[in-house]
Formats: sequence, structure tokens, C-alpha cells
Amino acid sequence: MDLLEKRITQIIEFDYRFGALLHRWGIDFYKYPDMLLAEVCRRKHINGQVLIGQITEAMATKLTTSIESFTHRPIADLIDYLRQAHRIFTRYRLPYMAQLIRDARLEYLHSSEYIDLLNDLKIAFPLFAEDFIGHILEEEQQVFNYITLLDDSLHRKVAYSRAYYAMEKYSIEKISEHHHADDDDMAGIRELTHHYAVHGQTPLLLRVLFLELQAFEEELKRHATFENDLLLPKAARLEARVRKVIARTIPLN
Ligand SMILES: [Fe+2]
Ligand SMILES: [Fe+2]
Repeated sequence: MDLLEKRITQIIEFDYRFGALLHRWGIDFYKYPDMLLAEVCRRKHINGQVLIGQITEAMATKLTTSIESFTHRPIADLIDYLRQAHRIFTRYRLPYMAQLIRDARLEYLHSSEYIDLLNDLKIAFPLFAEDFIGHILEEEQQVFNYITLLDDSLHRKVAYSRAYYAMEKYSIEKISEHHHADDDDMAGIRELTHHYAVHGQTPLLLRVLFLELQAFEEELKRHATFENDLLLPKAARLEARVRKVIARTIPLN
């Protein structure tokens, strides 16, 4: 279909994920419901063909990466992939959802049906985002750095003594326990929204918001599975190897 000749609402109704992609180009779908995409592009001095090329490509590459594809790859690749996912979560996904909540609240300020929920979300979402960003920071600054240090020492990029001292502070076993306990970040949001329930009459902006939240929860689950089922077991094996080498090479007293 020629997206440029479609009304923005039609495009979003066809697939809500276009909303996030258009948002990256500075087009908030709910501000131009009845305009053709071509018209909005003209107004915003956006080259429509370039935009279509980019969003079509983004849709096609949104295919999910499987755990299996990383099973036999170096642990450094897996960490790169997870760091990149963190960046996308914090730079694009969270701000987009926060904006949808803010604008939906303004839009439905006088709607008795939605305003309580949106007022609650306005408080609950930033709390969730703060916890989640804390989780990511801890992971990047401590867990990933520790695993990278183990990996580097095994590949003789850093002295084993550095790994030795780090192992006094961290252990993959403890990290795994902590990570498993930190699993269900979105429980509060899920309950508030009654499991992201929408019905035929739910306005488009809210529908997109709920679909985004739901998709985000699914992504977080997948992300946690990568960390729990692949990264941490790999890291545990790595740690055991480093421990063995250290026991052989550093005389301990
Ligand atoms: Fe993570
Ligand atoms: Fe995590």
C-alpha cells in the first residue's frame, strides 16, 4: 500500500507500530488524524520517500533475534546485543510511552471513563521507568563489566589479578539470584490497565498506548530470558574457568 496517500489514522489502525516509527520523525499520529501522510511530510519538510524507505526497512528488520542464534557466539557479542537493547529501551521506548501517557491524559481530561486510569498511569509509569533504568544501570556498570573483565582476563587482555579481586566482590551465583528476583517489573502497570484491556470503542491513542505497553512487557520478558538462560549460565562457566586458571597460576597463601 502507498502509505503516503493514506490518512495517518488509517496507517496506525493498519499497524500500531507505525506510530513509534513516525514519532522518530517528529510526527505524532494523534495530532494529524485526518491528514494524508504526504501532507504531513510536506508541512514538516520531510522527504516522504526517504521516510517510507526507513520505516519499511525498520518494520522488516523488527524480526526477533532468537536465543539460539547467540548460543555459540562469544559472550562479548551477547553483551553488545543486550547493551544495544538497553539503549533502545531508554532512548526511544520509554520516552515514547511517557509521551503517549502525557498526551492521552490531556486528551481525555474530561472523560470520566479514562481519566482516573490515566492519572494513575501518570504516577505509576515514571516509578516503573525509574526502577527499570536503575536495573539497567546496575546491570551495565556491575554485571556486564564484571563478565567482561572475566572474559578479558581469560583472553589475556588484562591481568588475572584484576579478575581475582573482582571475584571477591561479585559472584555469578549471587547475581543470578538477584536477577531472577527482579523479574516482574511491569506487574503494577499490568494490573492498573487490567492486562492492557481494550475494546472496540477504546480511542486510538489509548489503544496504541496499551499495545505499546503490552509489547514492551513481552520484550522485557524476552530480554530477561536472554539474560537468565543464556548470559548468566555462560558467565558462570566463564567464571569457573577463570577460577581454575587462577588456582593454577597464582600461588595463594
Ligand atoms: Fe538487561
Ligand atoms: Fe536484566
